[in-house]
Amino acid sequence: MERIYVDHAATSPINPKVIEKMMEIMGSDFGNPSSIHHFGRRARHIIDEARAELAKSINAEPNEIIFTSGGTEADNHAIFGVAETYGKNGKHIITTQIEHHAVLHACKKLESLGFEVTYLPVDQEGRVDAADVEKALRDDTILVTIMYGNNEVGTIQPIKEIGKILADHPAIFHTDAVQAYGLEKINVKEYGIDLLSVSAHKINGPKGIGFLYVSKDVKLSPRFFGGEQERKRRAGTENVPSIAGFLEAVRISQREMEQKVIAYQGFKAAFLKKLTENQITFSQNGSLDYSLPHVLNLSFPGTNVEAMLVNLDLAGIAASSGSACTAGSIDPSHVLVAMFDQGDERLQNSIRFSFGLFNTLEQIERAGEETSKIVKRLTK
Ligand SMILES: Cc1ncc(COP(=O)(O)O)c(C=O)c1O
Repeated sequence: MERIYVDHAATSPINPKVIEKMMEIMGSDFGNPSSIHHFGRRARHIIDEARAELAKSINAEPNEIIFTSGGTEADNHAIFGVAETYGKNGKHIITTQIEHHAVLHACKKLESLGFEVTYLPVDQEGRVDAADVEKALRDDTILVTIMYGNNEVGTIQPIKEIGKILADHPAIFHTDAVQAYGLEKINVKEYGIDLLSVSAHKINGPKGIGFLYVSKDVKLSPRFFGGEQERKRRAGTENVPSIAGFLEAVRISQREMEQKVIAYQGFKAAFLKKLTENQITFSQNGSLDYSLPHVLNLSFPGTNVEAMLVNLDLAGIAASSGSACTAGSIDPSHVLVAMFDQGDERLQNSIRFSFGLFNTLEQIERAGEETSKIVKRLTK
């Protein structure tokens, strides 16, 4: 049985060109980038090259990029870093109810340390209202952290509008762009973004590497202490092979962004067409106008998540209930809870399909066909 992976928002397969690059670097460039000899200089060169290109991809300067171990560390560094450096100016933080847990749990921790956090609601499409951000701003607001695109339902937030509102306020603007990077054109200077998190494993790069963009106007206290790596902002010997792989993944994703967006929009349409042809009752969770192209979150009345996922897996379809990081838990998704009422049936019967590398139209049509069969069986 051919297995069809439609869970790319959880993690994505590593591009073979990335694997090739990493293998090459692991074999040849093992030097410590802090060493002044030839081996060290070669490793340093790899990092410098990656930093410059990654910066360029979001219109930042090379020294505004800090390599991290991924999205979670980037989010934590942003949030705790701002709290520590700017906490003397105020203790208020604004975020949304639909953030990834890397942001939500960091905010919860700060509450226990005396900070006050406003968790903004979203509408039924999972979108925060920029006017609500403006209303929530106070003189003592030091941080606004709002994700770029949601990992469970794909809704894109009004980042540009929020950036404009914050232009007249000293609060630092952080956005978790882990799902959006590589599929959305991001310009940190134009959008007024001060801090931005990215993770390589969502764009066909290796796990355990990411970056935090830190505007040169923002001073963040470090999270790790030790050597002087990353200009004393993140101690620890750099993960050179992963950084080289990350660069390769970024090069490919920047080059192929437009084709990917078109392909994934086509996959969404093809999947939905199959369901309609098979007369399946479903509704789409998220926004039709503001959506990441690779995420399709669907509710199937009369089914339940666990039965759907087990049956899909038996049919060779790897999908998910939403946030990969909470997979296995039977708690309803906090994102859907924020979008709908507590007792809404959609909290129990929603499935996320997310598309990416190696998916073909034939695969997506088969996934749509198998999903239709399962829904029919479960609702008989
Ligand atoms: C929106 C979002 N933020 C943060 C993360 C965490 O990134 P990482 O797995 O690199 O720690 C994820 C991963 O699921 C995500 O989807």
